[in-house]
Amino acid sequence: MTAATGRHEVAAPVRPAFDADRVRADFPLLSRSMRGKSLVYLDNAATSQKPRHVIDAIHRYYETLNANVHRGVYQLSEEATAAYEWGRAMVARYLHAPSPAEIVFVRGATEGINLVAATFGRRHVGPGDEVLISAMEHHSNIVPWQMLCEERGAKLRVIPMNERGELLLDRLPDLLTPRTRIVAVVHVSNSLGTVNPVREIIQEAHARGIPVLIDGAQAAPHGPVDVQALDCDFYAVSGHKMFGPTGIGALFGKRALLDEMPPYQGGGEMIQSVTFAKTTYAPLPMKFEAGTPNIEGAVGLGAAVDYLRQLDWDAVARHEADLLTYATEAVSSIPGVRLVGTAAHKASVVSFVMEGAHPHDIGTVLDQEGVAVRTGHHCTQPVMDFFGVPATARASMAFYNTRDDVDRLVAGLHRVRELLVK
Ligand SMILES: Cc1ncc(COP(=O)(O)O)c(C=O)c1O
Repeated sequence: MTAATGRHEVAAPVRPAFDADRVRADFPLLSRSMRGKSLVYLDNAATSQKPRHVIDAIHRYYETLNANVHRGVYQLSEEATAAYEWGRAMVARYLHAPSPAEIVFVRGATEGINLVAATFGRRHVGPGDEVLISAMEHHSNIVPWQMLCEERGAKLRVIPMNERGELLLDRLPDLLTPRTRIVAVVHVSNSLGTVNPVREIIQEAHARGIPVLIDGAQAAPHGPVDVQALDCDFYAVSGHKMFGPTGIGALFGKRALLDEMPPYQGGGEMIQSVTFAKTTYAPLPMKFEAGTPNIEGAVGLGAAVDYLRQLDWDAVARHEADLLTYATEAVSSIPGVRLVGTAAHKASVVSFVMEGAHPHDIGTVLDQEGVAVRTGHHCTQPVMDFFGVPATARASMAFYNTRDDVDRLVAGLHRVRELLVK
């Protein structure tokens, strides 16, 4: 009620600001100091920090649940199996997969893509066929396809991009040919930050009956993914980039495709019955999980998703967009700095070069200031070639980063100029 009118105001809906400081308290490592200063961690695209929820879940797993899964008739093994399968169910929910049976645990996005290349690829790609990727792929979405193409006598084709780091979608109709057997495209570029219009790419490919794999390693850390809305055929993620443990990741695949694909590796766990004459395979998803799996990883990834699910993702999106705008303006206004990757639709990644300072030297000086950024080609050498740079410095931000972190980065970059730029 206002004093002046005595009437109730119809308030504009309150859009709560994201409380990054509160969230930071959940991540023990963020309170570390580095080089005598408080750590500013801006290398989230390489790997993200872990909330206590994840650390505790792994700890608890070893203290109370450890046993091998799927094989024991005793209670402890049943409980370990339940924890492992809970992790799978959590990932299925985060990716909106129709069923946990369509989630295969792998070591990370790299293994997820290799699995598809080695199984679906070997079955469907033959001499003269084509695999279509994009100009901004991580090496892990180039090399497996290149290896497959070499083996099968097939051709790797590439969707080009423009100077801003945006894919040229008008080239798609020519690139999707009757010989294209699969399209494999990154959702969010790790070196440029570009968010690709993957829904459109999937629709174009599906209109020609071509399946699509999406490399979601950099998308999943920025919010839940809906593989059903995207209608992608495969979607690969890495646990360690989505605030979970290393050594675990997930591959979503549509059931019909996973069913008809041959197994990836042979061994225990993935069989139904074995004789020397013939082996029959376990149903999904076990068919693709040979050997004792990363149980602790699955439990930790489940806990990461459990943590992520309670965040207000609209607020996170606004917070990350604010960080991106703030960092883009601040970094690009430093004399001699050129941004690499200026797409209209970006995740919170700022890649740049500075005249007169090699990216590795930038990284070293920033480290002295307690600021961790990545420098190098970011496993995207073709992207570096396209932009005519050997490497970039990259600040990649997660929801727990703040404007203060960006201020520290910018202060560090001024220090780089003082020390290195004549
Ligand atoms: C876009 C993209 N795809 C795939 C990967 C590979 O992920 P991992 O090394 O966790 O398998 C990365 C890692 O940086 C990435 O950024």
